[in-house]
Amino acid sequence: MKIIPCPSSPLLARRIAEVSGLDVGSAVFRRFPDGELYVRVQEKEGVVVGSINSNDDLISLIFALDVLDKAKAVVPYMGYARQDKVFQEGEAVSIKILAEILESKAEEVITVNIHSREAASHFKNLKNLDAMPLIGKHFAEKDVVMISPDKGSLERVKTAAKRAACEWDYMEKRRIDATTVEITPKSIDVEGKDVVIVDDIISTGGTVAEAAKILYSLGAKSVSAACVHAVLADNAAIKLFNAGIKDIIATDTVECAFSRMSVAELIAGSI
Ligand code: R5P
Repeated sequence: MKIIPCPSSPLLARRIAEVSGLDVGSAVFRRFPDGELYVRVQEKEGVVVGSINSNDDLISLIFALDVLDKAKAVVPYMGYARQDKVFQEGEAVSIKILAEILESKAEEVITVNIHSREAASHFKNLKNLDAMPLIGKHFAEKDVVMISPDKGSLERVKTAAKRAACEWDYMEKRRIDATTVEITPKSIDVEGKDVVIVDDIISTGGTVAEAAKILYSLGAKSVSAACVHAVLADNAAIKLFNAGIKDIIATDTVECAFSRMSVAELIAGSI
């Protein structure tokens, strides 16, 4: 089996190949003048590596998988996972559709920190790897406090903090009266502390920017952001720096300037 890198994950695919000792296969990805995509893979078997951070990423991945007789799909960032159920009548459950397509073309699907259990439940047999210990490792030996921006990411921050051997907490919403809601860390005093907001995804940056504002108002010395998937849509990085975020640290599931940790070993160990 060879590693087939999709255009969304060229560096990570190379790293996985290096760590796993597999060769990189031959594949061509091109765009026709009208915008349509062309994919050619000159292999019969392969591990296709491609995050889904755009519609083009999705098409490239599906086309590449389809060419192979025997394929594994490594989707480091599984986009479309936030629509994991019907919130309003008539909505397409995007991750369910993706799961059906990917599992019809690949004998195994591997991802990293898919958005929710609900999203994972649409796959029959998904390997969902956890990169939170990697985030923890990055902060080991550093005197920081890790905070999840909401209760939903509590387990994630707990895992990262355990590896970093640091304190952790989550932001809790408390209703003060009919019109006022207070959002603060549940129990930790952040005054004078270097805080790291830990989340699975930073998309528009709204969640982290809001949390940073609150943490600074409570006297935090500095606030940084760490995530697995740095989607950073809509100039999110600028929004975060404008909100006083000191640094953004992410893995390479979405390859970008903030990818400072690699999930290559994690993935190589599972293929
Ligand atoms: C929410 O459930 C996720 O864990 C993230 O907090 C969310 O996706 C971040 O989105 P944004 O950066 O757009 O606020």
